[in-house]
Amino acid sequence: MLGAGANSQAIDACFWQRVLAGISAWQGEANLISQEHAYWPQIANVLPAIEKKNTLASVFNSQADKNTNTLSNYVPEYSESCSTVELISKRRSAQRMELGEGISKGDFYRMLALAVPTGNRVPFDAFPYSCAVNLLLFVHKVEGLPAGLYTLIRNVDSFDAFKEACNKTFFWQPVQDCDLPLYCLELSDLRKTASALSCYQAIAGHSAFSVAMIANIQTIMTEDGAWAYRRLFWEAGLIGQLLYLEALASGLSGTGIGCYFDDAVHKLLGLANEGDWQSLYHFTVGKAREDNRLTTYGAYSHLSETEC
Ligand SMILES: Cc1cc2nc3c(=O)[nH]c(=O)nc-3n(C[C@H](O)[C@H](O)[C@H](O)COP(=O)(O)O)c2cc1C
Repeated sequence: MLGAGANSQAIDACFWQRVLAGISAWQGEANLISQEHAYWPQIANVLPAIEKKNTLASVFNSQADKNTNTLSNYVPEYSESCSTVELISKRRSAQRMELGEGISKGDFYRMLALAVPTGNRVPFDAFPYSCAVNLLLFVHKVEGLPAGLYTLIRNVDSFDAFKEACNKTFFWQPVQDCDLPLYCLELSDLRKTASALSCYQAIAGHSAFSVAMIANIQTIMTEDGAWAYRRLFWEAGLIGQLLYLEALASGLSGTGIGCYFDDAVHKLLGLANEGDWQSLYHFTVGKAREDNRLTTYGAYSHLSETEC
């Protein structure tokens, strides 16, 4: 996923060994966040219905295998100065975005390529399930790419059903200079729309691009049971964390967006409300505006070198 050129694998192995050592050395008892307990009966009612039945420990998904064939040779280019450890330590959510700042097409395509699941690349090699989430992309400012609505089909088997469910006015024009399953749906300035869909948060409209992660929840739950609904959020979270780190590797920042109007997203696409397709998580990538009122310490700055 990330790294400093040819050394990235060595850095990754070393880094993860340190993380594992840190985890196994933890001791003590975590504080309770609150002494009070809020009882939500609905959650207790839902839990038995979404219990995961026994499944094979590692069933690598056919999607990833298909993508592995086409994308496994993809080697991302990074500047020599950025290492995985540094990026993970620096990861912070942007609270405001610099309006008008964009991203290069190369960086944009690299992020998307890495977001496509392959069986041999982190983080999706650690996700032994079918990948179901497609990306709806609100492209605001990607150098050399017209602003508009695009989609990255991460689950190639879902293409026909997704297209059939969407507005008939969409172009579905494959993006010419890109090897990915990336399609242009319509060309327009969607900054206000993207912001409005994400609870009127400016970070979704002032960014270089923002994302809605959409999956066919009915298909997945019919095939794998109700517990797979939860799994879709694991997948969306993996994509989000990948985008967080890839944004940093491009000199930008990201923010996960959990506040959005799902019905309005579905309406924009022409999808039926309470239908098969569901928007699960939003994300935005752009140039963060520094807030000088905040003091930022380095990650784990309270620990000495030997402790971290
Ligand atoms: C699932 C999820 C949903 C989030 N939703 C929002 C959001 O709607 N708006 C926002 O400004 N930040 C959102 N954030 C960012 C959080 O505010 C941020 O992660 C948190 O304050 C911790 O800061 P950090 O990411 O810099 O460590 C979200 C983060 C996650 C992981």
